[in-house]
Amino acid sequence: MATTTATVPDAADLDELRAAAATCTGCALYRDATQTVFGEGPPTARAVLVGEQPGDREDRAGRPFVGPAGGVLDRALDELGVDRSSVYLTNAVKHFKFVRAERGKRRIHKTPGRTEVVACRPWLLAELREVSPEFVVLLGSVAAKALLGPSFRLTGNRGRLLDPPDDESLSAGRILVTTHPSAVLRAPDRTAAYAEFVADLEVLAKALA
Ligand code: URA
Repeated sequence: MATTTATVPDAADLDELRAAAATCTGCALYRDATQTVFGEGPPTARAVLVGEQPGDREDRAGRPFVGPAGGVLDRALDELGVDRSSVYLTNAVKHFKFVRAERGKRRIHKTPGRTEVVACRPWLLAELREVSPEFVVLLGSVAAKALLGPSFRLTGNRGRLLDPPDDESLSAGRILVTTHPSAVLRAPDRTAAYAEFVADLEVLAKALA
């Protein structure tokens, strides 16, 4: 099963993009993943939140952020009074990348590489083109690098509104970069990491108010 270049239909709306992405073979991840996990949310959303890639639960459900990281994100949005259904949620890479545990059936998350990020980027750009949000929130360094380039660093940039890069292909308003919610779950001090995550997202909540 060969890979091809992602074929993103021109001038397609989100439903048409979702349907086209379902058969994407733009990188090798389609071979082992259950399905493409496309973004979800209103086409009129004022904010697009971009994660890394679907995890095990998202791969099975076909929806972004329905697993443990999604729980952290939901809790933070809820505390800040941002309705999850009012934002558009998506990922930089739309297939689950994993390795199988040596024993048992567990599928262990593997960070997507630059090849997969680049192959999937046209879908993310097309989603941004369709939603044309006022704010784009990049959750973690894979999402940040997918949009802002591989040399982008989270340190020193998280938690404040940044101007979008001068790039015609990017229909994005201001950009907010923060950590990935799964990093909160892995942090040695989860309480502190969660508080920092919420403080970053508060910048979005205030901008939306
Ligand atoms: N992590 C992500 O980055 N995205 C998801 O949809 C789930 C977990």
